[in-house]
Amino acid sequence: MGSVVGLDIGTTGVRAVESDSNGRTATVKRAHAVPLPAGVVVEGVVKDSAALVSALRDLWRKGGFRTRKAALVIGSHPAVSVRSAQVPYLPSHKDMAVVVAQQADKVMPEDPARLYLSHHVAAVEERLDDKGAATREATVAIAGADKLALDSILDAVWAAGLVPTSVDVTSFALARFLAASSSGPGAVDVLIHLGATTVTVTGILDKQFAYDLAMNQLAGEMLTQDIALSMGISPERAEALKLAGPPNPEDPFRERDLDISGQMAGFTSALAEGVVETVEGLCRSVGAPLGRVWLSGGESRLPRLAIRLAVELGARGRVAVLDGRAWVRNPEKVRAASDATGQDLTVALAASVSLGGTR
Ligand SMILES: Nc1ncnc2c1ncn2[C@@H]1O[C@H](COP(=O)(O)OP(=O)(O)OP(=O)(O)O)[C@@H](O)[C@H]1O
Ligand SMILES: [Mg+2]
Repeated sequence: MGSVVGLDIGTTGVRAVESDSNGRTATVKRAHAVPLPAGVVVEGVVKDSAALVSALRDLWRKGGFRTRKAALVIGSHPAVSVRSAQVPYLPSHKDMAVVVAQQADKVMPEDPARLYLSHHVAAVEERLDDKGAATREATVAIAGADKLALDSILDAVWAAGLVPTSVDVTSFALARFLAASSSGPGAVDVLIHLGATTVTVTGILDKQFAYDLAMNQLAGEMLTQDIALSMGISPERAEALKLAGPPNPEDPFRERDLDISGQMAGFTSALAEGVVETVEGLCRSVGAPLGRVWLSGGESRLPRLAIRLAVELGARGRVAVLDGRAWVRNPEKVRAASDATGQDLTVALAASVSLGGTR
């Protein structure tokens, strides 16, 4: 297996990780990230193509990647949505795609004619119909990417001289990456991805993708907007304040009128409350106890979020920020890139490794 470059295009940056899969272990060869200014990708749609193309060129030049082929991952709400549905199970993937397309009319939040659809079979169950005959029913996760949004991203990728070889959705890529480290049969592991525009809660049961739910009203950009509105400052300033963390009370030059700690704490509480409710609902609907909880995405760095979830879910010692670097050789290359740019490269790493075929 040759090198695979996973490329994550998000609202706040572009990140790429190249890894080589050899036997059971993946080795990181190269990793780099380039932050994107606000306004380049908005709600998953490219608004400033020239800026995105230049960021991607920069990414490849500075990252020194040895191939121009990229396994693309996208995730922004509302350009990408994932819903689960029950459909009759058919052994052929092609037949299944037809059934899924029919079901998409009912479950997707947008007109399916405007979406590129793909699906993942999460579970297959035998059922008896009214006449007592056995039928097989599948639970599927249906991913829909808005055609205009995805085309705008693909155009920029091509224009940067890159060749997209596949397109994946953030929660699918992360779930596949995690599956190899799951708690094993009987317990449901939960992945909570907290991005700038998306919050998704994904269950993984018996190494299979079990459920996916979006809570985008609690994504990072919402907090930035809240801070900007209540303080009467620009979104850029609000973002910088948020990332700076709590001010030092000893600092005589701190801007007292821009103290956002109360607002940050309030948002963290609402987020924790929403997540706990969703995770408990997920365990009930899957009928399995909670295993591990993994957090990913930039917003997972909110102070005290992980510990709070651990306490409220009764899962002390089982809640952690997903750090895929523990599962690959040469993780320091990913660490160096994320330290240098402040970007989270986990999604790019997951795409690179899980498509490399080892996990
Ligand atoms: N230390 C921090 N505390 C709170 N929020 C943070 C922190 N660091 C980053 N964030 C937030 O995380 C978000 C960025 O996360 P991430 O990089 O996962 O999103 P993205 O991939 O750019 O966006 P999307 O996938 O939604 O298009 C931003 O809203 C940012 O403000
Ligand atoms: Mg993202």
